[in-house]
Amino acid sequence: MRISASLPLAAIVFATVIAPVSGSAVPQPPAKAQLDSSKVAATPPMGWNSWNYFAGKVTDKDIRDSADQIIASGMKDAGYIYVNIDDTWEGERDASGVLHTNSKFPDMKALADYVHSKGLKLGIYSSPGPKTCAGFEGSLGHEEQDAQLYASWGIDYLKYDLCSFIPAVMEKQAPNDKAAQMRLMLAAYDKMGKALKATGRPIVYSFCQYGWDSVWEWAPGIGGNLWRTTGDIEARWQSIYDILSQQKGLASYAGPGHWNDPDMLEVGNGKLSLAENRTHFSMWAMLAAPLLAGNDLPRMKPEIKEILTSRDVIAISQDPLGHQARYIYSKGEVEVWARDLQGGAKAIAIVNVGSDVYSTHPFHLDLAQLGLNGSQHAKNLWTGKEMDLTNNMPVELPSHDILLLRIASPK
Ligand code: GLA
Repeated sequence: MRISASLPLAAIVFATVIAPVSGSAVPQPPAKAQLDSSKVAATPPMGWNSWNYFAGKVTDKDIRDSADQIIASGMKDAGYIYVNIDDTWEGERDASGVLHTNSKFPDMKALADYVHSKGLKLGIYSSPGPKTCAGFEGSLGHEEQDAQLYASWGIDYLKYDLCSFIPAVMEKQAPNDKAAQMRLMLAAYDKMGKALKATGRPIVYSFCQYGWDSVWEWAPGIGGNLWRTTGDIEARWQSIYDILSQQKGLASYAGPGHWNDPDMLEVGNGKLSLAENRTHFSMWAMLAAPLLAGNDLPRMKPEIKEILTSRDVIAISQDPLGHQARYIYSKGEVEVWARDLQGGAKAIAIVNVGSDVYSTHPFHLDLAQLGLNGSQHAKNLWTGKEMDLTNNMPVELPSHDILLLRIASPK
């Protein structure tokens, strides 16, 4: 949640004081077999979202240009399919409650047709509250109507952002009762989930409620395909690293059809260094996170395109097993994460999260901690070079850089 003037003060206060509630207050997580992992999001969704670069300025033309560029840049061939409009497309409701777009989006159906004609899919955004985070019209009291509207336009993805539901419903209906507030929140997400399902159209359902109430435990049971695990990402290393750190312990909740969402990519935004962009992208792939680029595609630099279209790294993200990487260990300021891949292969990420270059005091790789028995043959996924890993080998990494490895046949 971006703390901005557009967010109601009550929501900000709520966000800072509330403690997660769990246990008997909310329904128990469904058994794995009952999870609605269905047809969509069998692997982490890949695409682009308007918010991180355009925020409230996004227009129909920006969406069309971005769709064009996804094709021209080779991103579509690399797997990017969803073109997602975030907040600020909404207009007013008419006398029958039907929501209309605002003047930035003159014809949503025509836009969806355009995006579909390119072989891409279109995503949209709303809130269970009366207003969105940016103060536009939300879906409260119009859930079925809005879901039907999205389906009639040909929408393929909905991001549903809590925001004004907090002061307007949770705090109003259940003052000082956090457990009851959490039940109201769950019911709101359930309501839209059912409304989407009733349309009969496969629509990826993305929860945006910042990880409250251990959302990973209950979201899949009410149709969530992905759920934000944290507040909003920003295009600076500290934000990316903080969010990465908050993913520890969540691996077991991810799998085909239901994913932890550490927020959209900032690759190519702000002043991130090349190493930081590479590490950010690599770790989101390791985490089986949605890969939703958020940069200015028509003006993307070649080195950013190279990162976003790296086939070897995307193959980690899209591995059909969907095993999210686990944090394995750290030494000094170097962290080691790993995930198992189809066919017994393994991906390992070694990240220098500190600001020193490790040339004077190199990090030594402990293969045993990774469950590996002696020397291994690996591929460096950013250079494409094959290499041998030996126990205790020194690894030198520039600050915020990564060594991303794939071991085809671990011993
Ligand atoms: C919240 C979300 C962001 C974005 C904005 C739009 O802050 O977390 O990802 O959707 O709202 O207003």
